[in-house]
Amino acid sequence: MKLISTVKEMQGMANEVRMHGKIISFVPTMGALHDGHLRLISEGRRRGDILVVSIFVNPIQFAPNEDLNKYPRNLDGDLEKIKDLGVDVVFNPITEEIYPEGFQTYVEVKVLQEYLCGLFRPEHFKGVATVVLKLFNIVKPHVALFGEKDYQQLKIIQRMVKDLNLEVEIKGFLIVRDKNGLALSSRNSYLSSDEMERAFSVSKALSEIKKEFDKGIRDTKTIIEAGGKTLREVGITNIDYLEICDPETLKRKELAEDGDLVAVGVRLGGARLIDNIRL
Ligand code: PAJ
Repeated sequence: MKLISTVKEMQGMANEVRMHGKIISFVPTMGALHDGHLRLISEGRRRGDILVVSIFVNPIQFAPNEDLNKYPRNLDGDLEKIKDLGVDVVFNPITEEIYPEGFQTYVEVKVLQEYLCGLFRPEHFKGVATVVLKLFNIVKPHVALFGEKDYQQLKIIQRMVKDLNLEVEIKGFLIVRDKNGLALSSRNSYLSSDEMERAFSVSKALSEIKKEFDKGIRDTKTIIEAGGKTLREVGITNIDYLEICDPETLKRKELAEDGDLVAVGVRLGGARLIDNIRL
């Protein structure tokens, strides 16, 4: 496993690998790796000759009032976790390498970025799309793997790839959860044990909504109320959104259909938790 920290070296290696006709698979991350990341990495191993994992806490996707400074960073721990997963390269640049002085070019996926998390984190997806495009230009992958946990992010990346004619295949993978159903997230480490108990209700709320749908109820306001109740029962009242939307456009729906996305974003203690499920 090779550790690369400069753009020049990463691009040089990618060019060389491509010249030999090899397939590059890529898993971008911000580190503090958990089983959700590890699943993507294992899938990445099967999909390329050379597997690259990036670990970079991208400052431009955090608002000034968000958790950039406290975001968990543990490079040695991360390297230890992935040492047996067949990763060929870990790309771990410093911030100045990605954003040198004078940096001023951004990518925006104008409509998809407006919904769900975008309403509460207005600059977030611009930061994500920009860094992912940069990483694609640096790592030059044939295939890149993303989790459905960040469903809106996945849709935004797919749209960007299509709109900008990027030659990379985007693959999405199911959410990895703990035994209580909580979607794994690097931010779960912000939760106290009491908050962790209550956090289980986030995925429970989604299941309650699905249950109502499975009973045949289609009015989204009525169905969602079942989930809202589950959250309020454990004192989760700071709900950014809990809604049913079209899985492609992310537009909120009044009548639910098979395949629709139920998405939730809440604030609990010092953490912002997101999750989703398909009907
Ligand atoms: P990060 O939160 O580290 O997530 C890296 C990848 O892991 C993303 O594709 C995310 O969807 C996936 N992931 C996280 N938790 C998961 C879970 N429980 N199950 C399945 N997949 C999971 O997402 C980012 O970093 C950044 O925005 C990034 C794309 C790297 C750009 O900075």
